[in-house]
Amino acid sequence: MTARAALGILPSPTRFAIAAMKSLLATAVLAATLATAPVHAAQPVKVGVIAPFSGVAADFGRQMQAGMQAYFKLHGDTFAGRRIELVVRDTGGPNGDVAKRLAQELVTRDKVDFLAGFGFTPEALAVAPVATEAKKPMVVMNAATSIVTEKSPYIVRFSMTLPQVSAPMATWAAKNGIKNVYTLVTDYAPGIDAEKQFKATFEAAGGKVVDSVRTPLRNPEFAPYVQRIKDAKPDAVFIFVPAGEQSVAFMKAFEERGLKEAGIKLIATGDLTDDDVLQAMGEPTLGIISSHHYSAAHDSPENRAFVKAFREVGNGLDRPNFMAVGGYDGMAAIADVVKKLGDRIDPDEAMEILKHEKMTSPRGPIHIDPATRDIVQTVYIRRVEKRDGQYWNVEFDKFPDVRDPGKQGGQK
Ligand code: PHB
Repeated sequence: MTARAALGILPSPTRFAIAAMKSLLATAVLAATLATAPVHAAQPVKVGVIAPFSGVAADFGRQMQAGMQAYFKLHGDTFAGRRIELVVRDTGGPNGDVAKRLAQELVTRDKVDFLAGFGFTPEALAVAPVATEAKKPMVVMNAATSIVTEKSPYIVRFSMTLPQVSAPMATWAAKNGIKNVYTLVTDYAPGIDAEKQFKATFEAAGGKVVDSVRTPLRNPEFAPYVQRIKDAKPDAVFIFVPAGEQSVAFMKAFEERGLKEAGIKLIATGDLTDDDVLQAMGEPTLGIISSHHYSAAHDSPENRAFVKAFREVGNGLDRPNFMAVGGYDGMAAIADVVKKLGDRIDPDEAMEILKHEKMTSPRGPIHIDPATRDIVQTVYIRRVEKRDGQYWNVEFDKFPDVRDPGKQGGQK
């Protein structure tokens, strides 16, 4: 009952009537409080997931979502009495404008508590100001350009950065007899990060980048670039292309132009030998050396449990890739916040918790650097091998506790 309606039923303003009105209002307020309190306690925590779920990069979203579901499968989905609910939205690809609109809707209409996902850097960059304005913790599960975390104090990253995985590849190459390298990267922020860091680290270690080429983000035709690399006769070619469709297209050109036969080694960030498509790329990938933070073949009890749970929830996806582990670990961090804050998820308190996360992930030990809100982790050097008829990224060397060199003024 409103105050106006309460006044309507009261007789002339006697002392008694005023006292009665006050008591009626107090009762109404108390009743309203009691009515909302238990309902609020039972409300789910909403996580708005923004990623591509259609188009050529549809598996980015599917992998992340299956990673989050694998977390629920192993640990449950309810913490401090509150169930975590995913509200999934499809960007269709590296489309910043769409990602921004979806984030605004998730905040204003769906009233999400967290924003999560982000397959492509342009999605994360476009959503950053929304996270700042709405004060929504934004958990990045892939987007891997160094600067992403600097775009909002509400961003924390559970994936990787391209400089973080490119520097170890350069160090390894320089130590293993590779002297001249040609680089090929996709022409957008993560590719430029990879190219710059590889060159800085490799040349500081005595190597030489003989030439560099950048290929378009959409529908690249790799054959002419690969031919040019073949003609330049470097010891090796270093590659970053976004995982999935582009890996497949690049490998096709690499094989058709006979670079392996020409004795040109292929070194890359693990995006090229993405576990999601490695099986489909098959034989030509044998022997590729790559550096990355996750392999489905990683040998640990945590990873065995993760791979098994992923297969059970993965909606037909055969094995988890690095985006799935980003989803799993990002969800572990969100669950930790819910456990600690329960009924009242204050965004600034949530960020304090997220900034100090430290856990044993299926990929190995990880923690967040509270100063940068970026991940610190082991980067592995792997070789594609065939075991029991299947292709795997087999880890054989590692660089522990790697920070994002992009944040340290391009550290060698
Ligand atoms: C990115 O856009 O940040 C991105 C996309 C795909 C990858 C890596 C990075 O494989």
